[in-house]
Amino acid sequence: MNRSWFISFEGIDGAGKSTHIEGLSEWFKSRGHHVTLTREPGGTPLAEKLRELALHESMDPLTEALVMFAARREHLIHVIEPALARGDVVLCDRFTDATFAYQGGGREFDWGVLQTLEKMVQHVPAHLIRQPDLTIWFDLSPEVAAQRLSKARVPDKFESQPISFFQKVRAGYAKRMTETPSRFAQISADQPREDVWRDVLSAIENAYK
Ligand code: TYD
Repeated sequence: MNRSWFISFEGIDGAGKSTHIEGLSEWFKSRGHHVTLTREPGGTPLAEKLRELALHESMDPLTEALVMFAARREHLIHVIEPALARGDVVLCDRFTDATFAYQGGGREFDWGVLQTLEKMVQHVPAHLIRQPDLTIWFDLSPEVAAQRLSKARVPDKFESQPISFFQKVRAGYAKRMTETPSRFAQISADQPREDVWRDVLSAIENAYK
């Protein structure tokens, strides 16, 4: 493995992706890779400011989608593209599938408008639309996720949504996966942590053939 690689991690709030992303960062480093570990919305000083707004202010659905894509553009141009050009493994905690799942699924915002924004924002030199090479979807029922989240910290704007919202987010991820199945690895997050980790590693190995 010595080429650049762009991997995104997705799932509803409470799916437990964070520990596995950290673990994977160490796993790649121990194999001699340079790793860029980052997240969306966020990843640059400006995009982190947009994250604060997106997660804590209520706003019109189009505004919300535009803020997500504005943060993404900054992040893509200033962090992700340079890292891929250096040959890094880029591990990104959420990317565009989250916008389709949360804004498109959860908020029921127009899927076609999101596709238009995706084309504009992710158009970079040599890529008509930059996409992750692999997307690991930590899939979990919203009921189980809600039980996990109730033990967690003060919820943000999305975490405080009802279960019905997360059912629509989950359906949004499923729809996105049907559009580009080869990019996705769907993992059941409703398993002991070591079994989820085993599935994460096998998704990595299967994708890198
Ligand atoms: P999350 O990734 O869960 O971070 P943390 O673990 O620190 O809470 O939080 C980001 C939230 O933003 C999450 O609820 C999903 C939401 N989100 C969108 O609604 N649209 C997007 O495009 C992205 C990237 C995230």
